Amino acid sequence: MKVLVFGASLRVRSYNAALAGLAARELETNGAAVDLAGFSEFDAPPYNQDTLDTGGFPPGVLAFSRRLRDADALAIASPEYTFSVPGTLKNLIDWTSQQDPVAWTGKPGLLLSASVSSVGGQRGLWALRVPLEALGAHLYPDMFSLPNADETLDRAGEFTDAARSEALADLARAFVRFADRLTS
Ligand SMILES: Cc1cc2nc3c(=O)[nH]c(=O)nc-3n(C[C@H](O)[C@H](O)[C@H](O)COP(=O)(O)O)c2cc1C
Repeated sequence: MKVLVFGASLRVRSYNAALAGLAARELETNGAAVDLAGFSEFDAPPYNQDTLDTGGFPPGVLAFSRRLRDADALAIASPEYTFSVPGTLKNLIDWTSQQDPVAWTGKPGLLLSASVSSVGGQRGLWALRVPLEALGAHLYPDMFSLPNADETLDRAGEFTDAARSEALADLARAFVRFADRLTS
């Protein structure tokens, strides 16, 4: 099983990119092949019907949907912006919603978040579930939210606490089983 994994932040030292890397490692440990992407590969201008009508889908959108179609499942580590989904990620979802077929449909998905706050970005993930489920992704019920990321990740992007590492390992194991069942 191949899993497309990415952190949904354009920031170079993104905590969510680091968390995506940790999740990718755990998914591989549990037998998945991982396609670890950088979010800048999927950069897209704000959705505009006129842009679509005159020039078609932007290259970043086409690259994303190609990579997602080529994967059996996906894992996203997303920041929480203003209690919700970052505009850049929602914009990418909106673009892909206009494609036929929609690349998200039928894909098992794992949602993670890292935030500098004590809530860990969990509210953003609940908001993210809405458009992804609307597009037919099969999201795993459990999610992983990392609070106080400036303290719970070290400079190398590793957890500073073994309990979190074990929690992510357990979740990755359970998700691979779930995705295997859905895709086989
Ligand atoms: C526009 C904006 C809105 C934010 N809103 C929230 C928020 O609602 N909740 C939260 O926990 N953190 C919020 N943050 C702080 C982010 O958790 C923090 O910037 C984090 O580092 C972003 O993830 P990244 O490191 O992967 O880029 C916000 C940051 C920005 C720039």
